[in-house]
Amino acid sequence: MKMGMLVFVFSVISVATLFSSCSLALTQDGLTLLEIKNTLNDSRNLLVNWQATDETPCKWTGISCHTHDQRVRSINLPYMQLGGTISPSIGKLNRLQRLALHQNSLHGFIPNEITNCTELRALYLRANYLQGGIPANIGNLSFLTIL
Ligand SMILES: *[C@@H]1O[C@H](CO)[C@@H](O)[C@H](O)[C@H]1NC(C)=O
Ligand SMILES: *[C@@H]1O[C@H](CO)[C@@H](O)[C@H](O)[C@H]1NC(C)=O
Ligand SMILES: *[C@@H]1O[C@H](CO)[C@@H](O)[C@H](O)[C@H]1NC(C)=O
Repeated sequence: MKMGMLVFVFSVISVATLFSSCSLALTQDGLTLLEIKNTLNDSRNLLVNWQATDETPCKWTGISCHTHDQRVRSINLPYMQLGGTISPSIGKLNRLQRLALHQNSLHGFIPNEITNCTELRALYLRANYLQGGIPANIGNLSFLTIL
């Protein structure tokens, strides 16, 4: 009888553990941000809380989300001494409205894929080592302010 109870309790715990681990899948935008982090050189380890084990990226350093659907609304990482490049994966964040990466040490080109972010209205990239300027067809992003 006691043994049966013990087995029952263990079963409940196991099933509960299984269910909670199932729900912990990072959103697609979170996975995209991890791709973006991969091409950055975060030498000061300021993006340490960008963790694949979270369910959403909404509390990560520099990130804010749209409230209803948890899609990424802004990336705000100025003055972070970030090196590396801006990943073309940025184009997958198509609800992005603000990208602020000014005063870092980014190099390479601003990826054309950024024109996929049709809601983008603020793009701050000054004081980096970026080449080639802003992609020409970014002019179609109707609300955009570039600083
Ligand atoms: C990252 O940045 C640090 C500091 O600027 C530098 O020493 C290091 O070589 C860089 N790493 C890569 C992979 O570029
Ligand atoms: C552009 O956005 C669409 C969704 O609207 C997405 O499926 C696609 O992967 C994005 N393209 C690029 C190049 O990021
Ligand atoms: C802007 O969008 C229109 C259609 O919405 C398209 O015909 C035009 O080629 C685009 N211009 C650029 C520079 O991408």
